[in-house]
Amino acid sequence: MPSLKALVRAHTELGVEDVDWLTLLLADWQIIADLSFADLVLWLPAVDGSGYWAGAQMRPTTGPTALVDDVVGSFQPAGGRPLLDVALREGRIAREGDPEWRDDVPVRVEAIPVRRGDRIIAVVARNTNLQGVRTPSRLELSYLQTASELSRMIAGGTFPFLGERSDHADTPRVGDGFIRVDEGGLVTYASPNALSVYRKLGLAGDLSGQSLVGVTRELVPPAMRPDEETISAVLGGRMPRDTELGNGQATLILRAIPLRPEGPRTGGLVLLRDVTDLRRRDRELVTKDATIREIHHRVKNNLQTVAALLRLQARRIGVPEGRVALEEAERRVGAIAVVHETLSQAFDETVDFDEVTDRLTRLVTEVGTQGAPIRTRRTGSFGAISSDAATPLAMVFTELVQNAVEHAFDPDTAGEIEIDCQRVGDGLVLCVQDDGVGMPDDFDLERSASLGLSIVQTLVGELGGTIALEARADGPGTRARVSIPDVAQRR
Ligand SMILES: Nc1ncnc2c1ncn2[C@@H]1O[C@H](COP(=O)(O)OP(=O)(O)OP(=O)(O)O)[C@@H](O)[C@H]1O
Ligand SMILES: [Mg+2]
Repeated sequence: MPSLKALVRAHTELGVEDVDWLTLLLADWQIIADLSFADLVLWLPAVDGSGYWAGAQMRPTTGPTALVDDVVGSFQPAGGRPLLDVALREGRIAREGDPEWRDDVPVRVEAIPVRRGDRIIAVVARNTNLQGVRTPSRLELSYLQTASELSRMIAGGTFPFLGERSDHADTPRVGDGFIRVDEGGLVTYASPNALSVYRKLGLAGDLSGQSLVGVTRELVPPAMRPDEETISAVLGGRMPRDTELGNGQATLILRAIPLRPEGPRTGGLVLLRDVTDLRRRDRELVTKDATIREIHHRVKNNLQTVAALLRLQARRIGVPEGRVALEEAERRVGAIAVVHETLSQAFDETVDFDEVTDRLTRLVTEVGTQGAPIRTRRTGSFGAISSDAATPLAMVFTELVQNAVEHAFDPDTAGEIEIDCQRVGDGLVLCVQDDGVGMPDDFDLERSASLGLSIVQTLVGELGGTIALEARADGPGTRARVSIPDVAQRR
């Protein structure tokens, strides 16, 4: 389907500001389609006067459609629809007495000129399927009257409102709740849905004849409503604005459209929607997130306490082997704490893992180096890692870097550890390589009984990945290569 902009550019002489105006109109014309129970089509006059191009279309959500097929992009020659010509030429709303018959459906057509300043830039055709029309109820009469007022505003150039757009998803629709107020802000009609929303808010009586601002002020405590200016602008139907307010029982969003069919304001349309459940769910999500972060924070604190205990015990123990073992345990616990600390600051369920590994690298190289300095370098990026893959991956990473620090270098030669990480879709390939002495000749990963690499193997296995330890091809040293098929999804 061609876009409005493309159609305008190809067939019309409308300028950028005209398109902006039409875009504003389209942002709000669902309201008019719903109020008039009619299909709307925006017809763009062709530059050569040969006819009209259909630039956009809107179906009503309140009644049956009159246009079964999409018409956007189609062409209507001048003279084929005299109403369009009249609206464009004379700048007034053109109506037909008798319905048109389309596919056995009686359709009443009305052509509304779209005025911007002193020009008519397009025509909106309002097509009502008369098959669904019965003797109208009060609700339908109020809808139709408001639709006709808005149509007159389109023809008069006072609708849409400049700078006002209602493109957020929460915006109320006609069917959610509809209130008409007069120029003094008194309710002249409230739809049953609108009344239900106010009942939920605590209203006992009726809305008709009441001041909407006054009623709302009584029901909503000052802390839960916008400032006085906004409340009287929106609820008085005086300004094209929206707002949100509520009390312990209900939350609603309101949107006002001032009505000025002949120029001076005659009142306003206020649409409202009950968003109580929506807002409660938002709040629950926020608390759930906050709770998860708090738990990570506490786990981190607990792990740091454990690490501190191990450090204390290591200092006290006389046997060197025992001390080394406790210090290593302390380091391992510390590595897990780093992951939880990062998760306690994360706002979603993934971790920016570059930050984690950079901290772990510093942690390991600072503690583990006694002799000549060890340089570290990271290339590539880990990207976002799901929170449940993060802890095992951090452990694997720490053990590999720790091994390079511990075993690869002579105490008095400087060495370099290179960390490279490549993401392949959801998967990840991590290489940790050093330029040190290389693995012992008789080393066999499968048969190695030492703890570090056992941890690595177990965790890589749990992540569904593989690990290889090999001599570097491009010089001395060892290269550990870990490949994991999926670190992005939750398990
Ligand atoms: N980058 C490396 N360069 C040289 N040798 C290594 C390297 N990585 C591992 N090794 C050898 O592999 C052995 C097994 O490593 P592993 O991490 O399993 O145990 P460890 O480091 O000795 O003890 P720990 O349980 O404290 O990690 C090491 O003792 C070391 O000989
Ligand atoms: Mg080790």
